[in-house]
Amino acid sequence: MEAVKKEEILILAIESSCDETAAAVVKNGRAVLSNVISSQIDLHKLYGGVVPEIASRKHIEKINQVIQEALDTAKVTLDEIDAVGVTYGPGLVGALLVGVAEAKAIAYAKGLPLVGVHHIEGHISANYIENPDLEPPFLCLVVSGGHTHLVCVRDYGVYEVIGRTRDDAAGEAFDKVARAIGLGYPGGPKIDKLSREGNPDAISFPHAHIDGAPYDFSFSGVKSAVLNYINGCRMKEIDYNTADIAASFQKAVIDVLVDNAMRAAAEYRFSKFAIAGGVASNSALRAAMKKACGEHNIEFYHPSPILCTDNAAMIGAAAYYEYLAGTRHGWDLNAVPNLKLGER
Ligand code: KG4
Ligand code: ZN
Repeated sequence: MEAVKKEEILILAIESSCDETAAAVVKNGRAVLSNVISSQIDLHKLYGGVVPEIASRKHIEKINQVIQEALDTAKVTLDEIDAVGVTYGPGLVGALLVGVAEAKAIAYAKGLPLVGVHHIEGHISANYIENPDLEPPFLCLVVSGGHTHLVCVRDYGVYEVIGRTRDDAAGEAFDKVARAIGLGYPGGPKIDKLSREGNPDAISFPHAHIDGAPYDFSFSGVKSAVLNYINGCRMKEIDYNTADIAASFQKAVIDVLVDNAMRAAAEYRFSKFAIAGGVASNSALRAAMKKACGEHNIEFYHPSPILCTDNAAMIGAAAYYEYLAGTRHGWDLNAVPNLKLGER
């Protein structure tokens, strides 16, 4: 392992796994000097979801500009960067490849170490940025558009996944229900907003628990129940209240997330609990987790909303701890669309 002698390690981090082209400069894993995000949402909105081919092309168009802006905002040049961190999976293969190729080119040209990062490790590490006191071990619920994982963070870079979704990810369920009630893409933030006007107890949607897998999740049942409810109302020509549907659906999802997380925290004896991923920016989820943690005497951590959804600062935080642990990738680093957490 290469000895780390400098006191300040500056990492240039790149993220392009889905529909955000992002670059950041992060000092010592926790201080964000810049965090530039170019979102493609307006483009994909036209199609009701992310179109992989369009995402890759847009990443190619934007990536150099985004990296330059990240360096300029941080007031540094590539000569001051100590390592390049990049998301290499999981995600859309064509989208990931753009970031990986760019990171390799910069690292090779400047003779810098290359540190590949797992996207979920990035989401979890977003919690380190605004919580200087947070250190492992802690339990983390990762809820995003592609993942719903309950993870024991044993140490920096050491993860044990104890629960995962059997079907839809939490964010995917939000997006599909939003589409069904005519809110458009991406649905999560819109359901969050509309729910504030609705009654969460108006409709009783199913809360799935899986026999023999106490920390796993399933959201396809609640999603289908919402669709059936809407179809039933339409067939009977009964008016339905979209705010009540949104609030009741959101409550059903949150109840299960809170219940599984709190049971796991008790069983595994964690005194610290964090949330991460796009859905972690949901205001009702944050409030429910805060309340539950208070009742269970557990310290609750969460990133700011901008650090919950995809960004490169979180990749810089994760890359720093991987860098300290000696993780170095070669020029053969490739995009791995189904990369498992904890694999190197
Ligand atoms: O972490 P993220 O930006 O990308 C992935 O890694 O998937 O998460 C995106 C997901 C989308 O499904 C989006 O609808 C959801 O996070 N999301 C939300 C909220 N903001 C974003 N879901 C619920 N409430 C929100 N406020
Ligand atoms: Zn993500």
